[in-house]
Amino acid sequence: MILSIESSCDDSSIAITEIATKKLIYHKKISQELEHSKYGGVVPELASRLHAQALPAILSECAPWFDQLKAIAVTNEPGLGVTLIEGVTMAKALSISLSLPILPINHLKGHIYSLFIEKEALLPITVLLVSGGHTQLIEVDSYSQMETIATTMDDSYGESFDKVAKMMALGYPGGPLIEKLAETGDMARFTFTVPLWQSPLIAFSYSGLKNQVRLAVEANDPSTYPDIASAFQKTATEHLIQKLKKYFKSNPPKRFAIVGGASANLYLRERVSELLQPYKAALLLSEMQYCSDNAAMIGRAAIEAYSLDEGRSYSDIPINPRCKL
Ligand code: KG4
Ligand code: ZN
Repeated sequence: MILSIESSCDDSSIAITEIATKKLIYHKKISQELEHSKYGGVVPELASRLHAQALPAILSECAPWFDQLKAIAVTNEPGLGVTLIEGVTMAKALSISLSLPILPINHLKGHIYSLFIEKEALLPITVLLVSGGHTQLIEVDSYSQMETIATTMDDSYGESFDKVAKMMALGYPGGPLIEKLAETGDMARFTFTVPLWQSPLIAFSYSGLKNQVRLAVEANDPSTYPDIASAFQKTATEHLIQKLKKYFKSNPPKRFAIVGGASANLYLRERVSELLQPYKAALLLSEMQYCSDNAAMIGRAAIEAYSLDEGRSYSDIPINPRCKL
């Protein structure tokens, strides 16, 4: 079995996964959303202190499996430096006390393997990763062969929902709050320009849209917020759809997936599903409970890392807050 730890942002999570069967034996996650909500976003130092409380509390439930472990897996990149340290330090202590290697896991690979929790991987696959920190289009051939095709030039898709929610004083995380508010809104009442709609680039950008929404929020009273939320969600998603369409012209998809916290958005799921119909491409999605950050996806990715013999000594685990795939 592999014990996996996730602490790259505001979720403290530990899982135990059986290597041979990929079965999830244990999984627990303590989210800090409530604590960060009043600040409208994640406060890194507070997140770090909350991990220091939550991770040992979860780990204490894992002792019955310690003698069956072959490795400790931990998210070591990318993420918030001060919160990655919490998980990596715990992994190092476990590695020393149990004499086990550490499998350092890239958080983005974790999101991709959230598709395959308790399953065989279906590869190759084209993946749209939409989270609070990332908006990326990725061609995945194997665990060690992944190519980033497009990325964001500024904010990410999920982050733009967080920022719009903050403007409306709704709380954090903004994604589910804006999605809910948008349900009752009229998406045609406000019109925002789709980012980069005239650009031939296959890239993403959300800072301009965020500013358009800010002006609308400032100029209108709160009774219009559902309409603004609805028009914002439509435009933010239309941007993804336009760029995917452009990419598909020369790279028709056979198998496609959306992963990351924002892949829970039902409007996005619907729009991508429509886009894929003419290609007859399969759409893979993670279970709702595994879209946002969790240690089960880190454990599933770690099975691949283990089979590639990527285990390392506790003294050889770098922390890379800003790395790519
Ligand atoms: O993957 P994740 O848990 O953490 C990162 O790796 O960033 O993603 C969290 C992000 C937040 O920005 C959150 O607002 C967004 O995912 N999110 C959503 C939805 N649920 C979560 N964005 C849009 N619609 C949603 N339903
Ligand atoms: Zn994430």
